[in-house]
Amino acid sequence: MTSDDSKPTSTSEPSPEALTGELAPHDRDRIALLGTLAAGVAHEINNPLAYTKESIGEAIRELDALAEAVPALRPIIAMLQCARDGTEQAWLIARDVRMFSRKGPGVVGAVDLHRVLDATVRLAHHEVSKHATLVKDYEGVGPVEGSEVGLGQVFLNLVVNALQAIPAGDPKAHRIGIRGREEPGRVIVEVSDTGTGMSEAVLKRIFDPYFTTKPEGVGTGLGLSITHDIVTSFGGTIRVDSEPGRGTTFTVSLRAMPREALLSSRPPSRMGRVLVVDDDPLVAEAVRLALAGENEVAVASSGAEALAMLAKGEGFDAIFCDLMMPEMDGMRFYDEVSRVAGGITEVIAFLSGGVDEATQIFLTRTGRPVLEKPFDPEGLREYVRERVRREGPAVGR
Ligand SMILES: Nc1ncnc2c1ncn2[C@@H]1O[C@H](COP(=O)(O)OP(=O)(O)O)[C@@H](O)[C@H]1O
Ligand SMILES: [Mg+2]
Repeated sequence: MTSDDSKPTSTSEPSPEALTGELAPHDRDRIALLGTLAAGVAHEINNPLAYTKESIGEAIRELDALAEAVPALRPIIAMLQCARDGTEQAWLIARDVRMFSRKGPGVVGAVDLHRVLDATVRLAHHEVSKHATLVKDYEGVGPVEGSEVGLGQVFLNLVVNALQAIPAGDPKAHRIGIRGREEPGRVIVEVSDTGTGMSEAVLKRIFDPYFTTKPEGVGTGLGLSITHDIVTSFGGTIRVDSEPGRGTTFTVSLRAMPREALLSSRPPSRMGRVLVVDDDPLVAEAVRLALAGENEVAVASSGAEALAMLAKGEGFDAIFCDLMMPEMDGMRFYDEVSRVAGGITEVIAFLSGGVDEATQIFLTRTGRPVLEKPFDPEGLREYVRERVRREGPAVGR
């Protein structure tokens, strides 16, 4: 049984009214309040998570240095790595909640569908696991036209419907699938379930606002109507195949966007790893603070200390190095790094309070960027984000 989207296509953004529907005023109020609170809570826990992760990373580095002499530290380091990964997971979830609770339709452009589907899976994972086994297969799908918040809502709606169509209690007996594939000019995502399926009479009405077969408090009947509006507003289509007793597959087709379109708009998919090399602890701390929210930041107070870290195989997305330091200055540090670690000079950017002629010649020769003090914190963060996007997973992880 198949039902195509037969609703008139809307080309405009879904209005805030469409997103909250004509709920009773107090319900609408409560939902809006919850959205605001969720965003606030996510924001509040984001920072402590960031510095918890930061401190654990620091502890791992310190213990690593001692572990050669004290092998008994190894299992403790392994536990801390576990804690660091868990904190990173929680940090990602906090970020996802911020993504889903943003108000309005969001900025329309190239969206990393992979990231949206991962965020959806992370948020729904716990509920899904009571009902079904989740099958994910969307590795490598390219970007699509849309907004993160809109597409997040689309796939969360479809996944929640899928799990609600499956009785809880025997997750091994059921599957919810999220599969992506590319067709010329399009990216197709299928959300399938092995749940109750739908009769023809139900299928005809599922995209109607307020149509629900669920008890009050469970269904509002708005999910698919909103989903349909969002998808069509992005130039997409949504289709459903369903068979009573066997299950349902929703097929969403979206406009593909060129992969390059993503580079400048995509938030990094993981924390960056940054090394700050500066003999002035105040400058180092200022840079660390600017970057700490979304990066793991290590500080070295001299070129020699930084070289020792690199020699241990620590990987960094960016190294910010002061040009003027006693003993080993920035230029010598650069030369040492290129001598011992080849291509890693690619990640070095210099910090400077002013550049003389000799330094200028050096910078031109090496093509490395220089950031002038005082720094623009957002500029520093964007520089690292750009490197994280380009590099994928950090070296040495
Ligand atoms: N995956 C699915 N399996 C079975 N029925 C579904 C599925 N998705 C949607 N439906 C049917 O479509 C109706 C409308 O869905 P929706 O618009 O999301 O509203 P709600 O979930 O609040 O009922 C549901 O009540 C249900 O009857
Ligand atoms: Mg629903």
